[in-house]
Amino acid sequence: MSLHSRDPILLTPGPITTSLATKTAMLRDWGSWDASFNAVTARVRAALTAIVNAAETHVCVPLQGSGTFSVEGAVNTLVPRDGHVLVLINGAYGKRLARLTEMMGRKLTCFETADDVPTRAADVAGLLDRDASISHVALVHCETSTGILNPLAEIAAVVAQRGKSLIVDAMSSFGALPIDARVTPFDALIAASGKCVEGPPGMGFVFVRKSVLERCAGQSTSLALDLHDQWVYMEKTTQWRYTPPTHVVVALDTALSQFQEQGGQPARLARYTANYRTLIAGMAELGFRPFLDPRIQAPIIVTFHAPPDPKYGFKEFYERVRDKGFILYPGKLTRVETFRVGCIGAIGPDEMRHAVNAMRDVITEMGIRQVSPRDAAARVAA
Ligand SMILES: Cc1ncc(COP(=O)(O)O)c(C=O)c1O
Repeated sequence: MSLHSRDPILLTPGPITTSLATKTAMLRDWGSWDASFNAVTARVRAALTAIVNAAETHVCVPLQGSGTFSVEGAVNTLVPRDGHVLVLINGAYGKRLARLTEMMGRKLTCFETADDVPTRAADVAGLLDRDASISHVALVHCETSTGILNPLAEIAAVVAQRGKSLIVDAMSSFGALPIDARVTPFDALIAASGKCVEGPPGMGFVFVRKSVLERCAGQSTSLALDLHDQWVYMEKTTQWRYTPPTHVVVALDTALSQFQEQGGQPARLARYTANYRTLIAGMAELGFRPFLDPRIQAPIIVTFHAPPDPKYGFKEFYERVRDKGFILYPGKLTRVETFRVGCIGAIGPDEMRHAVNAMRDVITEMGIRQVSPRDAAARVAA
């Protein structure tokens, strides 16, 4: 039976499944100039900042649009036009970061490791020591294209020791993995409404070190993405500079109340870890093998090897699992065939068990016998 009449569970890294309270918060219209809406914006900015203990040092600058808009805004606002950015890459979002840096005309150096190899802080130290012209380092904390976790604290330490500026894309880790601005130095950290804080998509935000942002006037080559201008205007008027995504902001406010009531970041990490463990155990029973070593895997999204069976095709597998009420995510690797399953959103281990059961049924329906990757495929990934 198809469940098209019900919302599917989104096992994707954003948009994610939101709670009923978060969804219903969007049923009102708000005037963007009205004091009641501006109070919501202020509350959201303060609640977000508290999650990374950054109230003393950083300001939260929200920005309309998907996460990439805020990544682009951060690089464009923080890096002077003659700046030089070292981008650390081990997946698609690192590549996107490099591309947008280059497109904005900033000098770019890339350091790339394989999709299943985290960036080492020692390599970053070596690169900075060899080229004193590098002014900024940009890093993806959890590279969502695979789910790999990069060692943020270690990299932040070597960047700070050398007096350089760190820009962190924490899109899929913020709110779930611990990040503390009092112990991990960064000049900008970027995330968005529709990830681990479990709001709807449509708003990004950047925590920028206040002393750095104060010096960023006029650096942006883009009007709409100028975080300095957005911040100055918001501080002066309490309003957004251009039309805000009102419904998203209000729903995010509700999602953040639930975040706090449920126990904040540690509780969120605990739930996602339970989701991850339930998923991994269930998928192992079916014969699915994860792409990453568990020691470098964040409990955010898991990449699985696709079954090598000739009867498997992602499109049919996806559609059949969707018809049972679960939305999977395609793989993003070119070397090996994979698919991804997200562990984030307003879901718990029960939903993960049901999802695994749906995949079990689909394997039978499609007549797939060989689920585990053949050794050769596994070796490519190793
Ligand atoms: C690590 C990372 N960076 C950036 C983004 C922003 O992508 P988008 O603009 O599609 O929201 C995402 C979205 O999933 C992400 O996971």
